[in-house]
Amino acid sequence: MVKAVVCGAAGGIGQPLSLLLKLNPLVTELSLYDVVNAPGVATDLSHINTPAQVAGFLPADNGAEKALAGADLVVIPAGVPRKPGMTRDDLFNVNAGICATLAQAIANAAPNAFILVISNPVNSTVPVFAETLKKAGCYNPKKLLGVTTLDIVRASTFVASVVGQPQDAPKYTIPVVGGHSGATILPLLTQSEPKIPAAILNDQAKRDALVNRIQFGGDEVVKAKDGLGSATLSMAQAGAHFANLVLQAAFAGKTLVTQSYIDLNAAAGGEDIKKEIGADLAYFSVNVELGRDGVQNILPIGNIDDQERTLLAAAVKELGPSIEKGVQFTPAPP
Ligand code: NAD
Ligand code: LMR
Repeated sequence: MVKAVVCGAAGGIGQPLSLLLKLNPLVTELSLYDVVNAPGVATDLSHINTPAQVAGFLPADNGAEKALAGADLVVIPAGVPRKPGMTRDDLFNVNAGICATLAQAIANAAPNAFILVISNPVNSTVPVFAETLKKAGCYNPKKLLGVTTLDIVRASTFVASVVGQPQDAPKYTIPVVGGHSGATILPLLTQSEPKIPAAILNDQAKRDALVNRIQFGGDEVVKAKDGLGSATLSMAQAGAHFANLVLQAAFAGKTLVTQSYIDLNAAAGGEDIKKEIGADLAYFSVNVELGRDGVQNILPIGNIDDQERTLLAAAVKELGPSIEKGVQFTPAPP
């Protein structure tokens, strides 16, 4: 029996993500929470003939706590998205407040749940969750996971396209570490499996363009949607994929490795990452080994080349202040 909750379930990401979770055979109960339309979306999904039983909740009458009660996994795509000309950091003031409120509700109603944070700016909202949960006395860094999966998905799509075999996108695995915003997104092209042909990696213009497209893929969607939001469908797929990895590890006895933006104190290996990146950052997207209780090991970044080392230095420089901003956030009194 696995209860999953989506907070922000009526939104552009929330609706398709809730649909994909309704189709996940590991989910037996699906609870949708939003400030608007969650009962409507829940009723719609409830007609699908898969096992998960669906219910929707609005804020009235402690709706958040009712939605979250006894949850095993909570996915958070609640908050405002970007418009053209905005950075993810421009969303901080609004979304940090929403995240702190939801973190408190999770602390009250589902203190043992896995928390998967999609709301931007992820580099700062994950620390906001951590600080709120610490104050509430129920912070478990092994179960707080910033979702950077869309960067991994984009990396394989864009690499396959540059290689000239776009249909092979699912065959590519390219680790993406660092954070989830511009220069903090560090795709490790030299670790691609299968290997990216040397003719591409050694062509500086092609390589720079590939890295840039992965780092700024979000802007590509924001521009194309022209004021009507940011990535929603690709994010829903990426979020549902990541949620499934967490569920497979927690409830189906599998040990799986992916990347996620986490507290480096979450498990063994975090101190080694600080040495690898040459900085004492509290959060970083790293290779995580997921098990029954969440992050069970933090694995090394491994071999990178000089160009990736330069990108790493830029990522580290930008991440520090974003983390600090999240750690220092004080929610407005209710
Ligand atoms: P959206 O506006 O379509 O949906 C957001 C939903 O959140 C809305 O339905 C809204 O009513 C709801 N909401 C607002 N305040 C809430 C609260 N206090 N409690 C519960 N629900 C609340 O936006 P979207 O396109 O779905 O994007 C959501 C967030 O995800 C944005 O911050 C966006 O930047 C981020 N995002 C992250 C990634 C990533 O890779 N991590 C990718 C895409 C988008
Ligand atoms: C993305 O990468 O698509 C998201 O972070 C949304 C955005 O603002 O770009």
